[in-house]
Amino acid sequence: MSKASLFVAALLFAVCAPLAAAEVVVGTNAEFPPFEFTDDNNNPIGYDMDIIQAVADAAGFSVRIQNQAFDTLVEGLESGKLDAAISGMTITEARKQKIDFSQPYYNAAQVIVVQEEGEGYETIEQLKGKIVGVQLGTTGAGMVETVLGEDNPNLKQFRKYNEVFSDLKLGRIDAIVVDLPVAQAYMRRLSGLRISSPRMSEEEYGIAVRKGNAELLQKINDGLTAIRANGEYDRITDKWFQEN
Ligand code: ARG
Repeated sequence: MSKASLFVAALLFAVCAPLAAAEVVVGTNAEFPPFEFTDDNNNPIGYDMDIIQAVADAAGFSVRIQNQAFDTLVEGLESGKLDAAISGMTITEARKQKIDFSQPYYNAAQVIVVQEEGEGYETIEQLKGKIVGVQLGTTGAGMVETVLGEDNPNLKQFRKYNEVFSDLKLGRIDAIVVDLPVAQAYMRRLSGLRISSPRMSEEEYGIAVRKGNAELLQKINDGLTAIRANGEYDRITDKWFQEN
């Protein structure tokens, strides 16, 4: 084949392949850098967005991203509004009652973030009596609930991490419990903050699907296996996490 006809063939494939492939509606909460956040045009970008696109390319489906509140993703899957979710979502027993997870694709941990000059807390127990910010529906929120109690007014549950971190900067809250890589991303954007605890949990992120959707789960797992084998997973991880 000539170069020109190869080019035309590639172009035709690029235009037509997505039409043939099934479209998978993937929920996320683009408030969680570097996993998912928005660019200047409000488009979700980040590690998870690259991972799901690479998985979809490898497994032969196309993706439509739906950006919504984190605490609505599980119900979105249950109601069938979403086919899948990728959102730095920790695989937990409680969530596994309601949704199914892919093989893990990232390891994270909860940590405590405080003002650089302020008091540092090293354990969840030390947050008793403090005003603590979390994101609604997260594992971090669950950890803080175990010591502060669910209805404690000192437990401030936000929908957006931007607001949690600006409240810490302003001194409206004493501490934040959040996933380590997200704490690091915010500390690169904002000065005057520090991580005061060690890793307080070991968590694995998975891609979620509606319970019982074995076909899509299989495609996603196959896609993850393929991108680990072909180097794409490492390329994406290096792109977003320089330390790896
Ligand atoms: N890993 C935590 C959890 O699963 C926090 C995830 C928050 N993700 C987000 N995109 N806001 O609960």
